[in-house]
Order: sequence, then C-alpha cells, then structure tokens
Amino acid sequence: MKKSVCKIALFSDPHFSVDSKEREEKWFPPLCNIMPKWMTRKFLKFWDDFTQRAFANLLMHLGAFAPFDLVIGCGDYTPGTNERGMITNESVQQYKTFEKVYNTALGHVPKILVWGDHDIGYKFDVSAKTGVKIGTEAGGVTTYSVARAEELIGEPFGVLDIGFKKFVWISTNLIRNVGINSDKELRVLQKMQEDFVERILHEAIDGEVVFLLHDPTAINLYEGIGLLLRVNTNKIEAVLHGHMHARWFAKLMRVFYKPYRQFCKLFPVYVIPASWGMLGIGKGFGVMEVFFDETIELHRL
Ligand SMILES: [Fe+2]
Repeated sequence: MKKSVCKIALFSDPHFSVDSKEREEKWFPPLCNIMPKWMTRKFLKFWDDFTQRAFANLLMHLGAFAPFDLVIGCGDYTPGTNERGMITNESVQQYKTFEKVYNTALGHVPKILVWGDHDIGYKFDVSAKTGVKIGTEAGGVTTYSVARAEELIGEPFGVLDIGFKKFVWISTNLIRNVGINSDKELRVLQKMQEDFVERILHEAIDGEVVFLLHDPTAINLYEGIGLLLRVNTNKIEAVLHGHMHARWFAKLMRVFYKPYRQFCKLFPVYVIPASWGMLGIGKGFGVMEVFFDETIELHRL
C-alpha cells in the first residue's frame, strides 16, 4: 500500500451568504427591482439558506475523510459585495461567519485560500464583448478591497512544499483586473506575483509544481504568467481551479470556449466543484493525497 505524505481537502465557490440585503450589489439586482419587496426578501432569504445548507452538507461529507493535513479553497468564499470585493462591514462580517463555520467543522488545519472574484472584486466587461450586461459591471479590484482580502483571507500568492511537490497559489484577479489604469500599488503587486511565478518555474524540476487558482480563463497564454505557464508545461503536474462550479460546466467550457480548451491541452486541469454546483447541479468537493512515490490522486464526488 502506498504511503501518504499529506491528505488535502479541496473546496471551492461556496458563496456562503448571510443576511443578504436588497441594497447590496448582487448578481440579481434587476430581478430584485422588478419583484415586489416581500418577494425580494423571500428570495434573498432562500438564497442565504441555500448556500449555507450546501456548505454545511459539503463539510459533513468532507468529515468522512478527516483528518486532513491541509485545506485548499479555490475562491469565492462569500458573495462579498459581489463586484467590489469585501469592502463593506456587512461583507466582512459575512466572511467571518463563513470562517467560523469551516473552522468549527474542519478544525484549525493549515489552509491555502486562493482569492476568487467575489473576494477582491472583479469586472468581466461582458457587455463590451457580447452586448449582454451581467451584474452592474461597476466593480473591480481596488487597493482597499485587496487590503481587506489580505487581512481576512491571507496572501494573494505563495508556495507550500508538500512531499516532493510545490503547491503554488496565485490570484487570477491580479492578472485580469489590474491594468494601466489601476493604482500603482496594485500594479506593483501584479508584477511581484509575475516575478514570483517566474522564479518558482525557473527553479522547479519536471512535474514538481501544482498550481492553485480561481479562474483559468483570466489567463492569457501569450503574455505574462500565461506565457510562463505555456513555456514551462513540463514542470507543471496539474492545475486545480474553481470558478466554473461544476464538472459538467467545465466540460461545456472546454468544448465552446477556445481559451479554456487551449489551457486544458497544456497540462492536467481539474475544476473543484462548488458546494452547490452550477444552477444546483454538479455539487462536490475534492480529496487529494500526495504520496511518497510522487503521485497525486484526486477524488471528486
Ligand atoms: Fe463562483
């Protein structure tokens, strides 16, 4: 029997929602606007209960595999204020409630928590590409949202050596949502992340690196970190990501979205399902073991 070095719990995108208010920036403000107030309240209550139940269910099932040596989250822990990150007191409280729930269930196990879109803010600009507006498109990454995420979640990028592997996490928001118009502080952080990935990949040996990130579609394979990944595929054992919420949705993306299809051709890519899946379908989590013989096994339920 193979000897395990480390057993890891993987989860993603719980969007753990507490005490939602109509005035908060949500994916569904237009829906809230056209519904009567009583129906909006009911809907928000349903949403809060739904995400909380889904996460409790995930923690219960994960418990069957415990104890873990490490917990990895691939982002979108709460809705935050959605497109602006966790910049309000209510969203900070919401994150703290989420943190309390998983610490109670999993114990104070070491964690790598990757930053997701809702954790520091995002701007997809879908309307510019497709003509269809999703959300308010008024958000984005700011120095304030980044400071909140650093304080609450942890570092945006880093590396942890486990057995013979290097687990490297990065923030895909810093890649897509920081540009020439962003604050200098954010551009410096973006450059630091790129330099960090360059150094890691330069020093790594074949098959040594496992990347953890939120949204692979934020990565352009022809520049910056994307280019570094593309020219160092031999050093990358796997990429684990969140964002797509369910394996069935990731499969659809592979077929219909060329940038993701190209990304998946470079190395083994695994989506960590959300606790409530996509549209309620395909919910799940992962349990991964790193063995002494340098292999990784990923079980998804
Ligand atoms: Fe998500």
